[in-house]
Amino acid sequence: MSNNKKSSIPSTINWFDSNEAFDNLFPDSNSSLMKRHWTPLEVAKKAAQFLAAEKNVQILDIGSGVGKFCLAAANYMPLAFYTGIEQRGNLVEQAIQAKEILGLKNVDLLHGNFSTMNFKNYDHFYFFNSFYENFSFSQNMDNQIEYSKELYEQYTYLLKTKLESKPSGTRLATFHSTEEEIPADYLVVGTEMKNTLKFWVKI
Ligand SMILES: C[S@@+](CC[C@H](N)C(=O)[O-])C[C@H]1O[C@@H](n2cnc3c(N)ncnc32)[C@H](O)[C@@H]1O
Repeated sequence: MSNNKKSSIPSTINWFDSNEAFDNLFPDSNSSLMKRHWTPLEVAKKAAQFLAAEKNVQILDIGSGVGKFCLAAANYMPLAFYTGIEQRGNLVEQAIQAKEILGLKNVDLLHGNFSTMNFKNYDHFYFFNSFYENFSFSQNMDNQIEYSKELYEQYTYLLKTKLESKPSGTRLATFHSTEEEIPADYLVVGTEMKNTLKFWVKI
């Protein structure tokens, strides 16, 4: 990896000890702006416990960034399989390097737009307010993509439609969601982290 983290960190380190330790897997770990966009470990653990309640389920993270949710969830709840889809190629590269360092086998980190994903291939879903970057210009990660209110509305509508197509019993965990993407037949069955993390089940 470009900053040579793989060779400079002792092999005995427990990456899951703290967010500080885990974030050292990534080249931009010192950037508070970047870290604001990744799921904290304790949130990933709670969300994974909800989503991976049964064995062998397929879980999709919609907008996976450097893969922090997928990698942490794969460690905490190893009997499920996690896929992340992320539009920024440089973040996917970092995610794949971190996956290799962690030696996780139950994660796939893909480069692309969630709009191309077939939701039939996944049982349950995680969503950390991925489209909000189209509004929060002062907190944007970079200038790689165009931000617009139209894109926010288009993605939000598409995600809602894809979630609507899923069968009863589908689980969704949202972190800091505006809830505009959530279909009416998904009901809240639990909340954590002062209501910022919500658990939904389709009736
Ligand atoms: C708030 S970050 C969350 C990252 C990760 N889910 C986590 O929890 O650690 C949202 C990510 O969604 C990505 N994203 C936004 N719109 C997307 C789209 N249409 N398709 C794929 N990724 C998208 C952004 O590039 C960003 O990396």
